[in-house]
Amino acid sequence: MIKKKIEDICNRQIEREGYSSNLYLAMAVWAETSGFSGVASWMYAQAEEERLHMLRFIKYVNERGGKSVIPALKQPETEYKNIEDIFKQVLKHEEFITASINEIVSLTLEEKDFNTHNFLQWFVMEQVEEEASVKNILDKVRLVGKNNMYEFDRDVLSLRKPSGTAQPT
Ligand SMILES: [Fe+2]
Ligand SMILES: [Fe+2]
Repeated sequence: MIKKKIEDICNRQIEREGYSSNLYLAMAVWAETSGFSGVASWMYAQAEEERLHMLRFIKYVNERGGKSVIPALKQPETEYKNIEDIFKQVLKHEEFITASINEIVSLTLEEKDFNTHNFLQWFVMEQVEEEASVKNILDKVRLVGKNNMYEFDRDVLSLRKPSGTAQPT
């Protein structure tokens, strides 16, 4: 049976992954309505992944005898400055999520909850990939983007990590 403290912090993560999904949906909408169909596809795909992250936590908490709470989500920004700005915000958000996952990891050690600790290892690796992938995109934006946003938008989907590297089962 999962301890209340761990259940609560996992529920906090359910909210954060759900918000991540909505944040990327809002970014997808901005990109799609601003003529960046490549960036929009990237964001839609990202939003889908975040939903699966939320589901992973939901199923885990329920499976361990806890009860997941489906949260109300706050509304993300609807306006963004430009493509560089949007990916900077993605990176900042992913760094926040990494810190959040690390906090749960450290609580599981304090509470000696080795099952949850083990469950979290997938997320630890996933966050390494997420940050690296967004940093790579930001490098590309700075390299080609400024002069040729068309080319960047056309190619951005090919910068997605191959699906299957850290897919939920
Ligand atoms: Fe996530
Ligand atoms: Fe993420």
